Amino acid sequence: MSPAEQSPSALTFDLVTRCTTTKARAATLQLPHGPVQLPMFMPVATQASIKGLTPKQLEETGCKLCLNNTYHLGLKPGQETLDAIGGAHKLQSWPHNILTDSGGFQMVSLLELAQVTEEGVRFLSPHDGTPMLLTPEHSVSLQNSIGSDIIMQLDDVIATTSPDHARIEEAMHRSVRWLDRCIEAHKRPESQNLFCIIQGGLSLELRKVCCREMVARDTPGIAIGGLSGGEAKTEYCKVVDTCTGLLPEYKPRYVMGVGYPEDILVSIALGADMFDCVWPTRTARFGNAITNTGTHNLKNAAYAYDFQPVEEGCKCTCCRPPSEGGLGITRAYIHHTTAKETVGAHLLSIHNVYHLLEMVRQAKTSIIEQRFPAFLKAYFAKLYDGNK
Ligand code: GUN
Ligand code: ZN
Repeated sequence: MSPAEQSPSALTFDLVTRCTTTKARAATLQLPHGPVQLPMFMPVATQASIKGLTPKQLEETGCKLCLNNTYHLGLKPGQETLDAIGGAHKLQSWPHNILTDSGGFQMVSLLELAQVTEEGVRFLSPHDGTPMLLTPEHSVSLQNSIGSDIIMQLDDVIATTSPDHARIEEAMHRSVRWLDRCIEAHKRPESQNLFCIIQGGLSLELRKVCCREMVARDTPGIAIGGLSGGEAKTEYCKVVDTCTGLLPEYKPRYVMGVGYPEDILVSIALGADMFDCVWPTRTARFGNAITNTGTHNLKNAAYAYDFQPVEEGCKCTCCRPPSEGGLGITRAYIHHTTAKETVGAHLLSIHNVYHLLEMVRQAKTSIIEQRFPAFLKAYFAKLYDGNK
């Protein structure tokens, strides 16, 4: 394709290293608000904030790209306020990149009464019950007002566990048609990157058709959606493997809604680059610490007198000792503050987000140094040993 024929894009993708024994890759993605390193985990700041964390605290985890939701921001503060303030970066005082999900998935998963038609997603406002309609055009317009560096197409998402093959096929074709409407409606392709989303449930045939259709539309990046909904891991892996095998090498690949450490690492081995999940922050609110030896509930009585850091050797602001500029928080402190106070949950969120970002950073280094398989083996050995 000559430069004149290329679709507009606001990113560059530089492949740094390809792993020689798996499909893993390390790359640098240049986005409007600075470079990000791939593979990458993106924490979810649904309402333009990660519950309990200031933007500064999020920055301290090393996060350079966080996720916001169009659905939530469109309702509150709403498009007028977003336009008045000049977008979500200003709203949350976040100098780095933002990715917004398009809204349809949140609606269908959060609201029982959401209804999908060819026009868009109909739902009742959770604030006052007024009937509303989110179309591909409206979702893109909201995301243009949000000003996110990566915007997602509106897609028709069906649970992977649904037995209704015809509905899954319809949703896949509709997602392609909605992508065309999103491309048409997108006002700022020079400063915001629109990603398509591959659908097709667990059917490899539908996924292949969808990959061909989406790739032909030449968006700056590509997501694999409709996963992480309770399907068997083998099915999940087959879908990711099939899709990455059909996607262009020089574009970022984002598997949506994936956040368990083992799923992220396996997906990296299958050639995926970007991941997001609410799990690290949500599970923090239940007192769970994500560590290299598994997830541990610090509410357990065993931690009441445990004065070690949340994770030994962790360099996050919560775990690092004051002599190294950290807070030196102990497991006992979290134990005593997650019951009634919120500070324990906030501190654990810092640790959990840092833990996942750091795990992926280490995976990236191992890819560059051509020792990713050894890294995987060591990670899993420690994880399962700790969970015994
Ligand atoms: N988040 C997790 N999975 C999906 C998906 O399939 N589509 C969208 N838009 N968001 C998601
Ligand atoms: Zn920590």
